[in-house]
Amino acid sequence: MEIKIVKDYQAVSELAASEIESLMNSKEEVVLGLATGSTPVGLYKELVKMYQQEKLDFSKTTTVNLDEYVGLKGSHPQSYRYFMNDLLFNHINIDLKNTHLPDGASENPQQAAVDYEEELSKLETIDLQILGIGTNGHIAFNEPDDRLSLSTHVVNLLPSTIEDNARFFESIDEVPKTAITMGVGSIMKAQRIIVLVSGKSKAPIVAQLMDDYVSTQLPASLLKFHPRVLLIIDEDAASLL
Ligand code: PGA
Repeated sequence: MEIKIVKDYQAVSELAASEIESLMNSKEEVVLGLATGSTPVGLYKELVKMYQQEKLDFSKTTTVNLDEYVGLKGSHPQSYRYFMNDLLFNHINIDLKNTHLPDGASENPQQAAVDYEEELSKLETIDLQILGIGTNGHIAFNEPDDRLSLSTHVVNLLPSTIEDNARFFESIDEVPKTAITMGVGSIMKAQRIIVLVSGKSKAPIVAQLMDDYVSTQLPASLLKFHPRVLLIIDEDAASLL
């Protein structure tokens, strides 16, 4: 894993945006893997700014998102579909038909997971996957466990994730208990992966990630097997290194 430590959250966002800009300038039809949560918000602001400055054209871009809560329609403000539309897709010239997220509102989430994996398999590749890391080491919603699924699946969220994400909901009881997530295998198929990490709350997990081991109990550690991973960490998140 290549590691770049930068000053602060803004620097994380700008570096990630410039990596996406380079990719989009080098290839006409790009498939971007995108993430939700607090960390990529600054990146999406930068991408919108670059689009407004006519530095980026998303008309031939396809996106795939990592995960979605089970039981939330795309119109629900805490759904990841809403998040992506609100923070990025509604502000750039992307065709919404080319933006993919698992269908969290499906009556049959297991089938929705199978269908999403099928959608992913129809894409030539994911050129660049953006990831965050949970304070418990999860990537997407692949939670620490003895076994991890390779393909898209339905997952029971751990209490630590429900607690972390409660800040987005009126109360912790409203946080969905299950989600549909890309598996570690689907993520690892991306040509390149950029992991964004910011803030003191992530310092302990970043320190663990630097130890010389891999474990399904630390899902982000499996990224060490991928040949092209860049970790962009701000000074706060790197403070225990
Ligand atoms: P965060 O979430 O960006 O809101 O910290 C990261 C994650 O859970 O992957």
